[in-house]
Amino acid sequence: MNKISIGNGSIIVPEIGLGCMRLTELDEKQALNHIDTALEYECNFFDHADIYAGGESERLFGKIVDLKGASREKMIIQTKCAIHPGICYDFSKKYILESVEGSLKRLQTDYIDILLLHRPDTLMEPEEVAAAFAELKKSGKVRHFGVSNQNPGQIALLNKYCDNQIEIDQLQFSLTNCGMIDAGLNVNMSNQEGVNRDGGILEYCRIHDITIQAWSPFQYGMFEGTFLNKEKFPKLNKKIDEMADKYKVTNSAIAIAWILRHPANIQPIVGTTNQQRLKDIFAASDIALTREDWYALYMAAGKQLP
Ligand SMILES: NC(=O)c1ccc[n+]([C@@H]2O[C@H](COP(=O)([O-])OP(=O)(O)OC[C@H]3O[C@@H](n4cnc5c(N)ncnc54)[C@H](OP(=O)(O)O)[C@@H]3O)[C@@H](O)[C@H]2O)c1
Repeated sequence: MNKISIGNGSIIVPEIGLGCMRLTELDEKQALNHIDTALEYECNFFDHADIYAGGESERLFGKIVDLKGASREKMIIQTKCAIHPGICYDFSKKYILESVEGSLKRLQTDYIDILLLHRPDTLMEPEEVAAAFAELKKSGKVRHFGVSNQNPGQIALLNKYCDNQIEIDQLQFSLTNCGMIDAGLNVNMSNQEGVNRDGGILEYCRIHDITIQAWSPFQYGMFEGTFLNKEKFPKLNKKIDEMADKYKVTNSAIAIAWILRHPANIQPIVGTTNQQRLKDIFAASDIALTREDWYALYMAAGKQLP
């Protein structure tokens, strides 16, 4: 598994991370086997959130994985906070600190490698976030910080108060959900693809050494299902299958290789609970699509070059 550095080089991570949002679909034994498979392939990066399965994903992970002593340092644990389900988004110091305490307890660990603020809270006061981060860093409970689903202005505002500590933005990104690419390819155009919904987040992150993580790299829409092998995407699947033959990997690996090929060093966070699929996906780390193949896949997803 190839490695990338997060932010400006503060942590080295595998270029593909394992998302734990669906982990509770497995029983304890299956979940442990799944995590062991990831580790066998040098994927020691695990993405959580306090809200996944109402906290049960973190609890399961903490129960079956030894996150104490020497074995802890071998793992990179990322979790998220700030979604108060069904009620509000909450970037208050109190909420952030309480959420971290809950995650530490459920994960049965002393520290979190990376804490992300899950979705923007429009009522946020950046001074409060800064105070929470400072306390978490000082106590050693959190080592690094990032955000998720945020635009450049929101990150810049936080960074102004948080001493430029935001190193990650986790965003939905895949062959079928790549508005940040569309907007960048259709600058100055009046077509739909030219609508800049993310505020130039791709370029902003590259300029400021912020790592983009791609959530739901196989899903289309908002959790509508995977686009692979789906009749709804005949042209895309035909091209993906053609590439799978060419590069001698599975279609899952091609979908991930498409993300990895972008020079922004985007880290896909994959959510499969299937061990064979996970191994197939990791093969994406061994191939590099040509520029022409990358664009051919993009266009097969229904996009046009202006
Ligand atoms: N920051 C955010 O707002 C946010 C939002 C959502 C998710 N996330 C993070 O992103 C991670 C990944 O999300 P996700 O699980 O929705 O992503 P995903 O990897 O795009 O989707 C995985 C799901 O697709 C299914 N699937 C079916 N065919 C597949 C194939 N050929 N290849 C791969 N998967 C296939 C998997 O089933 P099987 O299990 O049977 O393989 C699994 O249910 C989450 O675990 C979480 O850590 C973050």
